[in-house]
Parts: sequence; structure tokens; C-alpha cells
Amino acid sequence: MRAAPAQSFRPGAETAPEEPRIFANELDLPAQICRAATSTVFARTAVMPRKTPWRIAEIVLLGLLGASCGADAESPSVEVWPAGGAAGAAGSGTGGTINPLAAARCRPPTGMNGSPRTIEDATALLNALPKPTSVACFVESLDRPLTAYATSSTFSAQPAFSAKSPRVFIKIDRLWLSVVMDGESSYLLELSYLQPDEQRSVKGEVQMPLNDALQPSAPYDRIRYGSGTGCGLCHYGEEQVSSVSFTQAFASIAFRPRPDTRVALDSLLAERQRCDFTKEPHRCGMLSALFDGGPVVEEVFPVSMPTFF
Ligand code: HEC
Repeated sequence: MRAAPAQSFRPGAETAPEEPRIFANELDLPAQICRAATSTVFARTAVMPRKTPWRIAEIVLLGLLGASCGADAESPSVEVWPAGGAAGAAGSGTGGTINPLAAARCRPPTGMNGSPRTIEDATALLNALPKPTSVACFVESLDRPLTAYATSSTFSAQPAFSAKSPRVFIKIDRLWLSVVMDGESSYLLELSYLQPDEQRSVKGEVQMPLNDALQPSAPYDRIRYGSGTGCGLCHYGEEQVSSVSFTQAFASIAFRPRPDTRVALDSLLAERQRCDFTKEPHRCGMLSALFDGGPVVEEVFPVSMPTFF
């Protein structure tokens, strides 16, 4: 398998990076699912004393993942300079190291707001932002206050990198946007749209940076796997929805993070304040994108929603 060349570019660069292949293993299981799930299930199965049915479920899942995740996946090796800027940092009063890049924060163009309420709205906002569009640029463009919940959970298609670089769910009405502060998953934007039953959500995913406008079907088409989606591996009860007419989209059970994986937003803000842009430009750019545009308020997931374990 060919490895994507490591490269670095700034917004406005002429050449677009090649999109890393995510579906890279023998059975075409999304690579990030393989890495996250296999390592976490393995750790849990090996270490944690659990009740027998759970252990059996975990071992079966591990076996399935092991069988499906044979080939090594390519990792996104594109480093995008984040668009978070000194202006944003100063304006918010959060302090912290000034972004030496001093780039302007991404904003929705005139006539468009930064509060997407559906996956289609989010796609339209992504398309309207400057290209190449990074995850940080998208997060910057969202209206404040943001409602968010951070988790250190590593068991998902988009694992948290660590408690200091967690996975952050941003909620706008029924839309959940999921971003990770560092590591490989930080090049993904995961989306879900909560269904009226409050139990299930329609899923989508976008690989960033984006060099061109997306078709409205792209977030749904990217996650297709077999007769459903790769997300259905964990998010069970998957069924096609009729609300999306232009492609096949699927709703499945929505999960909330386990409360013991919660990362307090205060502690994450402290990470933003002590982040050194010269040492960790990508991570600092993500933290700056989250915090420097205005207040970020915690919103917990409904307790009626199940956790995975
Ligand atoms: C390996 C198991 C696993 C897979 C595969 C998986 N998820 Fe999840 N997902 C979780 C867990 C566990 C949670 C609870 C939050 C957490 O722990 O990060 C979750 C929560 C979510 C949420 C929050 C609310 C909701 O609607 O469920 C979104 C959004 C989400 N996942 C999107 C996706 C998308 C999109 C995919 C497919 C690309 C996917 N997930 C695949 C395990 C998984």
C-alpha cells in the first residue's frame, strides 16, 4: 500500500493534498474504526473483569474486528495550519499563547449563519468556507455560545486522542458535530442528526481538509459499508431513512459517552491557555478554534440515551 506523502500547507496553497484513503483494509472496514475498536476492545477484554455476556460480546467483536482489519491503514499525514488567530485569542479574553500564524478566524460568508441544524446545513457551511477547509476552520465558523461535551473515550470511529486532546461533541438543536482535538481523528468531522424518537440518529462523516465543495450526499456516501454503514458496527439497529431522498442515509441507535470519560470544559480551556503554538500548532489550532470565538457551555447528553458499555 502506498503511503501518502507527508506534507504541510497553508490555507490558500495552490495544491490540494491527496485525500487519505480511510477504507483501507481487506474487507473495506473503515480504518479508523479498526484501530480504535480493536485496541480498545482488546484492552477491555484483557484487563477488565466483566460479566460473562459482555465478555463474550467483546471477544466476538474483537474476533470480527481482527478478521476484518488485516491490512495496515494509511494515516492522514497532512498537517494543516489552523486558521485560529491572534485576533480571536485576544478578542475572547481567554489568554494563552498567541497564535504565531495570526490568521483570521474562519467565518460564514454574509447571508449564511454559523448554526447548521441539519447535516445538509453543515455541508453547505463547509462548502461556503475558504478552501482548503480544515476542521478548525469549520469549528471557528460556528456561532457562539457553543454547547459542547468533551469525552476521553477511545472506543468509537473517532477516538479521543487523550484526556488532554479529547473528542468534543458540539450540539446545535438536533445536530451533533463531533471533532477531536489532536491525532488522526482530528481530521474527521462526524455528524449525526437526532430522530424524533430521541433514541436514534442519522449518521454522516467528512474527511478534512476539504479542497472542493461536497455534494450533499457525500457525508452519507462516505460511511457506506455493505448494505448499511460502517457506523452500524457499533450503532446497532440501522435502518435506511426516507427523510434523505438524494442518497441512502441510515439511522441507528445514538450513544452518549460514559460519564466516567467526561472531560470538564474548564480543564480543556486550561489546555488551550497553556498550549504552545510553536510546539503543537495543529492541536493548539483546534483548541483555539473551540474556545477563542466566545463562550463554550457544557451540555450533557440525555440520560435516556444508552452508553455502549
Ligand atoms: C467502535 C464502535 C463505534 C463505531 C464503529 C462508531 N461509533 Fe459513534 N459512538 C460510539 C460510542 C461508544 C459513542 C459514545 C461517545 C463516545 O464514547 O465517544 C458514540 C457516539 C457517537 C455520536 C454521538 C451521538 C449519536 O448520534 O450517536 C455520534 C455523532 C457518532 N458516534 C457518530 C458516529 C459515526 C458517524 C460513525 C461511523 C462513521 C460511528 N459513530 C461509528 C461508538 C462507535
